[in-house]
Amino acid sequence: MGLGNSEVAVALLLFLSCSCSVYGDAGDTITTSQPIKDPEAIESAGKMFQLGFFSPVNSTYRYVGIWYSNISASTPVLWVANRNKPINDSSGMMTISEDGNLVVLNGQGEVLWSSNVSNGFNQSTAQLTDDGNLVLKAGPNGNLVWQSFRQPTDTCLSKMTLTANARTGNKTLLMSWRSSSDPSVGNYSAGVNPLGIPELFIWYCHDPNPGSMTGT
Ligand SMILES: *[C@@H]1O[C@H](CO)[C@@H](O)[C@H](O)[C@H]1NC(C)=O
Ligand SMILES: *[C@@H]1O[C@H](CO)[C@@H](O)[C@H](O)[C@H]1NC(C)=O
Ligand SMILES: *[C@@H]1O[C@H](CO)[C@@H](O)[C@H](O)[C@H]1NC(C)=O
Ligand SMILES: *[C@@H]1O[C@H](CO)[C@@H](O)[C@H](O)[C@H]1NC(C)=O
Ligand SMILES: *[C@@H]1O[C@H](CO)[C@@H](O)[C@H](O)[C@H]1NC(C)=O
Ligand SMILES: *[C@@H]1O[C@H](CO)[C@@H](O)[C@H](O)[C@H]1NC(C)=O
Ligand SMILES: *[C@@H]1O[C@H](CO)[C@@H](O)[C@H](O)[C@H]1NC(C)=O
Repeated sequence: MGLGNSEVAVALLLFLSCSCSVYGDAGDTITTSQPIKDPEAIESAGKMFQLGFFSPVNSTYRYVGIWYSNISASTPVLWVANRNKPINDSSGMMTISEDGNLVVLNGQGEVLWSSNVSNGFNQSTAQLTDDGNLVLKAGPNGNLVWQSFRQPTDTCLSKMTLTANARTGNKTLLMSWRSSSDPSVGNYSAGVNPLGIPELFIWYCHDPNPGSMTGT
């Protein structure tokens, strides 16, 4: 005696949902138990953005970045985590470290990039939102402790605000790639002038260190 149609359907559904959770959509979050390893990626809930590993044109180095889901692999990368410290092979991973920070590690477990929030916290989860923001939330209440919108690469997304604090001089800067095959900090940056009326200024800098920028 065989299975009834409904039993087959239930079995098929169970099979499908199982295979989805294993092989399919990786979700939009990174946790200690759910890191991403090259070439894995996560995707925002509405399938707007993806975060994963990429190599720029004419480069074999691997970087963790965010790009639009809907366009092909050669489209602009909107944000790069380890822009100044590439992974030299495909053994990289992005995970949550023991101190709660979001980190990019190479195959040797060296930290190439960290969200580098110093406050002691726990139970962190990183999530890629449909605005293209990578947010790190921690603690039982999921407090926002870090977000990629406050540490942009060279692209301003519509929900991102470039901020400047006139009192502290702290500002969010966009900094160009060195070249199309090298996302490390290049010579151009843009941000809001903290001392004047909000206005977009372009700086030319000889030194990637923002402290030595000269205005134009
Ligand atoms: C990639 O390398 C090829 C061959 O050296 C060169 O012709 C091409 O312009 C390079 N592309 C970019 C975007 O640098
Ligand atoms: C991809 O998505 C972005 C953001 O929603 C949109 O601006 C763009 O037009 C889309 N491109 C294509 C090819 O659908
Ligand atoms: C890659 O990086 C690791 C650790 O940083 C280093 O030991 C290794 O020599 C590098 N390999 C190459 C080919 O540069
Ligand atoms: C973290 O921040 C501290 C202080 O700003 C800095 O000295 C250190 O180099 C940073 N570490 C990383 C991995 O970015
Ligand atoms: C982290 O959580 C552990 C238990 O889960 C707790 O013992 C520890 O005090 C927490 N640390 C912080 C900084 O909240
Ligand atoms: C600038 O912002 C960073 C990160 O938000 C913060 O840690 C730092 O204390 C701020 N610096 C000043 C001078 O306010
Ligand atoms: C960027 O600055 C460096 C150092 O001043 C210089 O050697 C290089 O030619 C500049 N690159 C571009 C694209 O202007």
